[in-house]
Amino acid sequence: MSGQRIIAAQITYEVVFKKQSLSELFKQRLSENLAPEFKSAVKALCYDTIRHYLQLQDYWQQWVKKMPKDKLVRVILTQGLAEFYYQNKPEHVVVNEAANVAKKLKKRWACGLINATLRQALKNKTQQPSDEVARFEHPQWWINQLKKDWPSHWQSILQANNQKPPLWVRSKKPLEQATKHPSIDGAYIIDAQNITTNEDFNKGDLSVQDASAQLAAHILCPDDNEFILDMCAAPGGKTGHLLELNNSIKLDALELHENRAQKIYENLHRLKLNAKVIVGDGSQSDAWFSGQKYHKILLDAPCSASGIVRRQVDIKFQRKPEDLKAICQTQQELLFSAAKLLTTRGQLLYATCSVFKQENSQQIKLFLNSHPEFSEIKLKYPFAMNCEFGIQVITGSQDMDGFYYCYLQKNER
Ligand SMILES: C[S@@+](CC[C@H](N)C(=O)[O-])C[C@H]1O[C@@H](n2cnc3c(N)ncnc32)[C@H](O)[C@@H]1O
Repeated sequence: MSGQRIIAAQITYEVVFKKQSLSELFKQRLSENLAPEFKSAVKALCYDTIRHYLQLQDYWQQWVKKMPKDKLVRVILTQGLAEFYYQNKPEHVVVNEAANVAKKLKKRWACGLINATLRQALKNKTQQPSDEVARFEHPQWWINQLKKDWPSHWQSILQANNQKPPLWVRSKKPLEQATKHPSIDGAYIIDAQNITTNEDFNKGDLSVQDASAQLAAHILCPDDNEFILDMCAAPGGKTGHLLELNNSIKLDALELHENRAQKIYENLHRLKLNAKVIVGDGSQSDAWFSGQKYHKILLDAPCSASGIVRRQVDIKFQRKPEDLKAICQTQQELLFSAAKLLTTRGQLLYATCSVFKQENSQQIKLFLNSHPEFSEIKLKYPFAMNCEFGIQVITGSQDMDGFYYCYLQKNER
């Protein structure tokens, strides 16, 4: 069991202190020949530790005179508390194993400190977080941004971000044993499982997709023979859904990164569906646009991913407030480009998995200022909030990810 803890501590260290991507680290560190149970245990421990890092560190920090300079030792302490609070491991196991991990990682000198600190922290189980960052387990700038954007909902958004997400799927046939979404057709929550061994998944009858992401294809509601562009398509979740809803459409799936475009092929192959996959930059259409305008465009834009942090726990450590400026610039360029590629009376659906208004309603406001030929088609769902422009699914609403949509119509000038 120490082996799993050692790898988990090293991965968590890379995420928290080197801002590395968790999924990339899993790919590099968890090779194919490791047992599936071993890999699942490492992943679960990394998720629990990283998700609650800012609170758990605060708990043990209250019992040391000085913050240890060694960052790996900090991770070992935090991981120990994650095992206790989120994996129900007994106190003596947590303390002994944390010391073992320290020894194996050549931190024998820290064993006394780890032992004493964890024992103290575990003796005081009614400990309270010492500040807002520890209480809500997000960086201060993120908390402040949500307070500004969602004065009545910021706490519930942060709390939802800290929960383990359910496994949402899109299913072609009714699933008797699963929880059905009350109003999104085909969306179900199923029990956590290794989906790649699920028969329906391998047959293409089932796809993993949060219910809030499934709204995109339903809003676009593809009509027979329409020519549609999925402008930021990889890994192809929404590409596949659009074709499932209407296989007579002609669909271009554009993606900037070649390696990610490969994922669209893989997904479409599993679903036995076809689209034209194009590797290109949505904002530089001269390089790939055929000249035939689209009836509908889905712009599922690159974003901060602040609505899906419960799934991508590492983004709490990767994102910096200054990143938002560059992200918003790209979103605006993509919107401008999409506007040119759409037929008159065509529709453009702008979507992000963010809850920050500057990427959402404020982007649309800016876009409409310079594009008077566009008007909003109002959307209304019982589980979504109406914004100045578009709608916001607040993270956790009906157990869904945070998602933003604005549906626009291009009118004659
Ligand atoms: C939010 S993800 C799309 C998810 C996808 N629609 C789905 O449902 O599976 C955004 C995608 O846009 C791609 N992207 C980023 N900038 C782009 C650009 N300028 N042109 C085209 N694609 C871009 C990213 O590589 C990423 O794969």
